[in-house]
Amino acid sequence: MPFLNTSKLVTIERHITEEGALHPSATGEFSRLLRDLTLAIRIVARDVRRSGLNDVLGVTEDVNVHGEMVKRLDIHANEVIIRAMDHGGHLCVMASEENEDLIPIPEPYHNGKYVLVFDPLDGSSNIDVNVSIGTIFSIYQRLDPTSAAPGSLADVLQPGYKQVAAGYAMYGSSTQLVYSSGNGVDIFTFDPTIGEFLLTYEKIKIPKRGKIYSINSGNSYKWEEGLRNYVRHLLSPSDDGTRPFSLRYVGTMVADIHRTLHYGGIFMYPRDTTSPNGKLRLVYEVNPMSFLVEQAGGRATDGERRILDLEPTSLHQRVPCFIGSEEDVLEVERFLREG
Ligand code: AHG
Ligand code: MN
Ligand code: MN
Repeated sequence: MPFLNTSKLVTIERHITEEGALHPSATGEFSRLLRDLTLAIRIVARDVRRSGLNDVLGVTEDVNVHGEMVKRLDIHANEVIIRAMDHGGHLCVMASEENEDLIPIPEPYHNGKYVLVFDPLDGSSNIDVNVSIGTIFSIYQRLDPTSAAPGSLADVLQPGYKQVAAGYAMYGSSTQLVYSSGNGVDIFTFDPTIGEFLLTYEKIKIPKRGKIYSINSGNSYKWEEGLRNYVRHLLSPSDDGTRPFSLRYVGTMVADIHRTLHYGGIFMYPRDTTSPNGKLRLVYEVNPMSFLVEQAGGRATDGERRILDLEPTSLHQRVPCFIGSEEDVLEVERFLREG
């Protein structure tokens, strides 16, 4: 797996401009949208790192603000993204995990032809213990690109295969941006010394099969029989050495998917007896991640149906998900069918 391709030094702006040339219909509007979004991500990355620092500085009169920021970093990240994105003229509406309803573009700003949905801070439970967290986003074209009216719920509740682009930022040992606009998946690593996201991995491909499964086993007493049989199968040694699998579970979807993209295997957040639709939200978590994994050659279903074909019915609806290496996802589907 090649590391930084220093000969090219491609910034994300240059990459988006070059990719834009691949879409004759694309105006500079999309590139400007992504420029604003990467600015927001850089600000969130800075504040994520600063919040950790404030834990070290201990109690000061600022602790309320920073404590509030750390404890409510997802609210802060949400406000940063909305403020960065609401006046560029590229969007007609936004939707966020942190907002019950649609986020309109405020007067006097222009309603553009794109829709942005996002999870501003994914992995909130890991904020206070310095474990990787992230931001997930997805971009659609509005249903009527000629309209200048405010965007509607119908513009947001589009099936995942209509995504124009999707990606996530991961605030880990470095800040990385994983992004696709339908032409494969590229990874950019933020270089704080120059303030740029530089292309680090090009057109990554997820292995066809892996040796890692990722699931919250604490819920296993609530799983359906087919899933229990599948996990038992993964843990039984095979003659060809493809099993047993190892379990890796960070509890931040961005981190678990990022590892799965690189190493292969399967990430699962299934339904269970107390959560009939699982936990993860279709519109701003599962759809963008499914788009990326499919773009990398993987598979993403709800155990039966392709995630990207699902017609969303509400903003915060949850969906069971099995995302990762094609052969691993196909195999769990077989176990679920057999029950
Ligand atoms: P968020 O912090 O945006 O609410 O997302 C948390 C999600 C996701 O990141 C992760 O995969 C999942 O919650 C973990 O849930 P459990 O703690 O129930 O395993
Ligand atoms: Mn999340
Ligand atoms: Mn979140």
